[in-house]
Amino acid sequence: MTRIAFLGLGRMGVPMARRLLAAGHDLTVWNRTAAKAAPLAGAGAAVAGTPAEAVAGRDLVVTMLADGAAVEDVLLGPGGAAPALAPGTVIADMSTIGPDAAGRVRRRLPEGVAFVDAPVSGSVPQAEAGELVILAGGTEADVARCAGALEALGRVRHVGPPGAGAALKLVLNGVLVANFAVLGEALAFADRLGVDTGLALDALSALSPQAGRLKESTPDETPRFTLGLAAKDIRLVLNEARTAEAHAGGVLSAVQARVDAALAAGLAGRDLTALAEHTRSRTGRTSPMRVKIGNPPTVPAPPNTAYSHTAYVTQGPMLYVSGQIALGEDGEIDAPGDIARQSEVIFSLLERILAAHGAGFEDVVNIRSFLTDLDLRREYGAVRARYFTGEPPTSTTVEVPRLFHPDALLEVEIVAAVP
Ligand SMILES: NC(=O)c1ccc[n+]([C@@H]2O[C@H](COP(=O)([O-])OP(=O)(O)OC[C@H]3O[C@@H](n4cnc5c(N)ncnc54)[C@H](OP(=O)(O)O)[C@@H]3O)[C@@H](O)[C@H]2O)c1
Repeated sequence: MTRIAFLGLGRMGVPMARRLLAAGHDLTVWNRTAAKAAPLAGAGAAVAGTPAEAVAGRDLVVTMLADGAAVEDVLLGPGGAAPALAPGTVIADMSTIGPDAAGRVRRRLPEGVAFVDAPVSGSVPQAEAGELVILAGGTEADVARCAGALEALGRVRHVGPPGAGAALKLVLNGVLVANFAVLGEALAFADRLGVDTGLALDALSALSPQAGRLKESTPDETPRFTLGLAAKDIRLVLNEARTAEAHAGGVLSAVQARVDAALAAGLAGRDLTALAEHTRSRTGRTSPMRVKIGNPPTVPAPPNTAYSHTAYVTQGPMLYVSGQIALGEDGEIDAPGDIARQSEVIFSLLERILAAHGAGFEDVVNIRSFLTDLDLRREYGAVRARYFTGEPPTSTTVEVPRLFHPDALLEVEIVAAVP
């Protein structure tokens, strides 16, 4: 039995922490959003209020956090674990953060605290089944000290010295993300040649496990590995490639452009598999430059992040979408009085309407917003900014005395230049 602290209870962290408990280890867990620790508390873990409280008196600290900044924050930031880490503790960071961040964290840890970069290959089902492949980078002695406990999570492969695990993980994820993009293009090609999608994926799954994954995936399944995290990995890959003066303008740069386009279409929270469908719908589009967003110097107000002054469309069909309010499936307003929730509902409706036309928020040229109280515009704007991640469209926002449904606080209509 090892005394383990587990920091980070996201999609991967929860099933991994569960397995450590089931293997009989003494487990303390911590998560930034405390509510996510509840199922672990029910299964017998102690729940700590801070990272420092979680790591005090522990032999092994496992971190499973979104990115390098989160790992640095939780271990070394203000209120982080570092002051409570005793000499002799081993930290196994299982997040995907790349060798640079892993090195930075390792160098800043207190004297006598060991660090193993131990990112994982496999996703939520493998985490649940204890079938991850753990790519451990560290000294023989440090890896040996944590390998026994980590075997509850999958197969531990000692792949080299400190940083080697973090590096190998980036090599894997570059290919993983690229495969979904290229499969999207392959399906667009299949569409043009009249090849059935199921048949194409069936045949492709002999070449690529990602084709098999696409074959099983359904649009409403719970995301396993989000596009937002995949985008982080592609960024890390390209940053490392540039640092190493390796060729950075090749296929992976094109993959990054595909991923960025998917993020701009509001897909960050969707599963990585959505990259294939997004790429498929975009492949063969004549010119994404049909829309030129502008901010002419003749307009006194300077460009800003909320809206642009002009959108010039040179060709192609336009889609006019009526004003949408936050109606739920029961025909009632989802969350009367809650502007953030109503905004969220409206933008997810618009996202689906656009997607049905093969378009995304980057295709929107004009947005008109009607608020019953202009003082709510900041909360509305915060939601809207998450959907318009590229250049903002032209925009009008007005206050109106009332909308056609008495509980609606907001109505939004858009015009988009569709593919
Ligand atoms: N999902 C996969 O299939 C998969 C597979 C292999 C590797 N990975 C890698 O494993 C890591 C975790 O992935 P995941 O899918 O479990 O991610 P996730 O579901 O998004 O969870 C992220 C976790 O990080 C925490 N977090 C984020 N920013 C933080 C900050 N600044 N301070 C403190 N905590 C922070 C979140 O806390 P809150 O709950 O408070 O938001 C949550 O616990 C990532 O590096 C990912 O790339 C994922």
